[in-house]
Amino acid sequence: MSQYQTVCEQLKQAPKIWLVTGVAGFIGSNLLETLLKLDQKVVGLDNFATGHQYNLDEVQGLVSTEQWAKFTFIEGDIRHFEDCQKACVGVDYVLHQAALGSVPRSIADPMATNETNISGFLNMLVAARDAQVASFTYAASSSTYGDHPALPKIEENIGNPLSPYAVTKYVNELYADVFARTYGVNTIGLRYFNIFGKRQTPDGAYAAVIPKWTAAMIAGDDVFVNGDGETSRDFNFIENAVQANILAATANDEAKNQVYNVAVGGRTTLNTLFAALKENLGTNGVTYNKDPVYRDFRAGDVRHSQADIAKIQTLLGYDPQFNIIQGIEKAMPWYVQFLN
Ligand SMILES: NC(=O)c1ccc[n+]([C@@H]2O[C@H](COP(=O)([O-])OP(=O)(O)OC[C@H]3O[C@@H](n4cnc5c(N)ncnc54)[C@H](O)[C@@H]3O)[C@@H](O)[C@H]2O)c1
Repeated sequence: MSQYQTVCEQLKQAPKIWLVTGVAGFIGSNLLETLLKLDQKVVGLDNFATGHQYNLDEVQGLVSTEQWAKFTFIEGDIRHFEDCQKACVGVDYVLHQAALGSVPRSIADPMATNETNISGFLNMLVAARDAQVASFTYAASSSTYGDHPALPKIEENIGNPLSPYAVTKYVNELYADVFARTYGVNTIGLRYFNIFGKRQTPDGAYAAVIPKWTAAMIAGDDVFVNGDGETSRDFNFIENAVQANILAATANDEAKNQVYNVAVGGRTTLNTLFAALKENLGTNGVTYNKDPVYRDFRAGDVRHSQADIAKIQTLLGYDPQFNIIQGIEKAMPWYVQFLN
C-alpha cells in the first residue's frame, strides 16, 4: 500500500478538521472534493475573487448528502484578519490556497497581488499560529526558481524572481520559515509546477494555458503560442497535487518546515502540448484543424521548467499517479462537457 493510501485509510478511520482557503477555486475545490470523499470535516474560505460558486455546486453533486453536510463555507477575505481567525477555529490542518495567481496579472497590478499574496498570507499564518493548528500547508510556486538556469529544478537552488507574483510566493516561503523557527508553526510549502485538471477556469485574460487552449479549440478559435512554442513546462495533473497536500498536512515532524516541488518530473514543450490537446479532443469528438498562431514571448515567463521530485518522493512518500497525457485524458471529458 502506498503512503498516500495508508494516510487516506487513517483519515477515514479518524477524521480531521481541515481548512481550505481558496476553496471555490481550481485547486481548492479539488481538495474539497477529495477530503469530503474521505469523510473529513472541511471549512472553506473564499471571497470569489477568481473562484466560483459553481465549483462548490459541482463538488456538492459529486459527494453524498452526509459528506456535504461536513462542509462549512465562509465567504470571507484573507486580507481581513478576522475572517482568517474565524476560519481557523478548531482546525487541525490548514491547506492555504487562496491567492491571486498569474504572472501577467501581477505585472499589471502588483499591489493587488501583494495585498492578497503577502498581507493575506501573513494574516493566515498568524491566525493559524494562534489557533495552534497541527500543520500549515501552503501553495508555493515554481516561479520562485526565477532565472536560475539549472534543470531539473532542485529545491535549494533558486534564482532571482522574474515577476511580482514570484516575489510574493518567495516571501511566503520566507515567512513560513520564520514562523516555523520563531513560533514553532509546522509549515510546508508546495511549489506547484503548472497544475491542470477539471475546474481550472478557461475564462479571463489570466487563464492558464491548458484550459485556455482547450476552450479555444472547442470554440474553433485561434490558439496563440507565446514565443516559438519550445518553451517547456512540467505539467502536473491535479490529482497528484491533491495527494501532495494530504501527505504534507499529515507528514511527520522531520518532513515539516520545508518546501517541496510538486510536479511529475517531466518536461513538455508548448508545441507538444498543442498536439496532445488536439489529439485528445479528437478522441472526445472535437475536431480542430487550425495551426497555432505564434506571437511574442510573454514578459516574466521562464523559458524552461522541470522539477526534480526526489525530495518529495523521499520525505513525503509522494507517488504521482498521472503523467501529462494521462492527466489530459482524465481532464478532457470534463472540458468538453463544461464548455459545450
Ligand atoms: N494552478 C497552478 O498551476 C498553480 C501553480 C503555482 C501556484 N499556484 C497557487 O495555487 C493556489 C491555487 O491556485 P488555483 O490555480 O486554484 O487558482 P484559483 O484562482 O482557481 O484559486 C484561488 C482561489 O483563491 C481565492 N482568493 C483569491 N483572493 C482571495 C482573498 N483575498 N481571500 C479569500 N480568497 C481569495 C479565489 O477566489 C480563488 O477561489 C494559489 O495560491 C496559486 O498561486 C497554482
